[in-house]
Amino acid sequence: MSTTKSTSKTVGKGGSQRVRGQRWMDEHVADPFVLQAKKDGYRSRAAYKILELDQRDRLFRAGAVVVDLGAAPGSWSQVAATRVGATGRVVAVDLLPIDPIVNVTILRGDITTDPVIAQMDEALGGLAVDLVLSDMAPNISGIAAADSARQAGLVELAIEQSLRWLKPEGVLVVKMFQGVGFEDCVRQLRAAFKSVALRKPDASRGRSSETFAVARGVR
Ligand SMILES: C[S@@+](CC[C@H](N)C(=O)[O-])C[C@H]1O[C@@H](n2cnc3c(N)ncnc32)[C@H](O)[C@@H]1O
Repeated sequence: MSTTKSTSKTVGKGGSQRVRGQRWMDEHVADPFVLQAKKDGYRSRAAYKILELDQRDRLFRAGAVVVDLGAAPGSWSQVAATRVGATGRVVAVDLLPIDPIVNVTILRGDITTDPVIAQMDEALGGLAVDLVLSDMAPNISGIAAADSARQAGLVELAIEQSLRWLKPEGVLVVKMFQGVGFEDCVRQLRAAFKSVALRKPDASRGRSSETFAVARGVR
């Protein structure tokens, strides 16, 4: 009998977590976006989400100033740095360390805290921002209602800060989870921005509740 079978039959919660972990790993190694990211030199498959959003919504332009919230391991920043070029500016922040990326200023810390927001303000040096990206996500507990509520908190923070940093014609791309707080986040986005489109890129796993909002033009 295989290990997987025996654990799933006999060990309750811990066993089913191991089975889920093994299933995730099996899917991950066969995932075409994971394989493509390796070939293209991206740090994660998430690169293809922002590339698809860019293709559809024309997010980047040469010389633009971009803020990347929740940027580790750095694939969105890799895309942003290439797209804005040497005349642009990318400032990235995460709780986790991010290996250096050419033309990206990297900060480490919790962007919901005042000292880290102050570091971001300093790194921007008063530059008005064209595009705020937020792929931030909490550590997933597996309890859907709790996870989506925590995600809604991160979305609110991204909206609040992007309104301080963005140019009037600027754009916010923000990851949301369907569930608790989702409708409220959409309402907040619609109140703050002139247009809001909801997107589910192909690279976003079908069973994931993540949805991206592309919010354009500060009201
Ligand atoms: C899905 S990953 C981002 C992937 C990234 N866009 C990429 O392409 O490599 C979400 C990230 O959000 C970060 N994060 C969550 N809460 C945060 C917070 N309060 N401040 C900064 N980063 C946060 C996590 O540490 C995690 O690395």
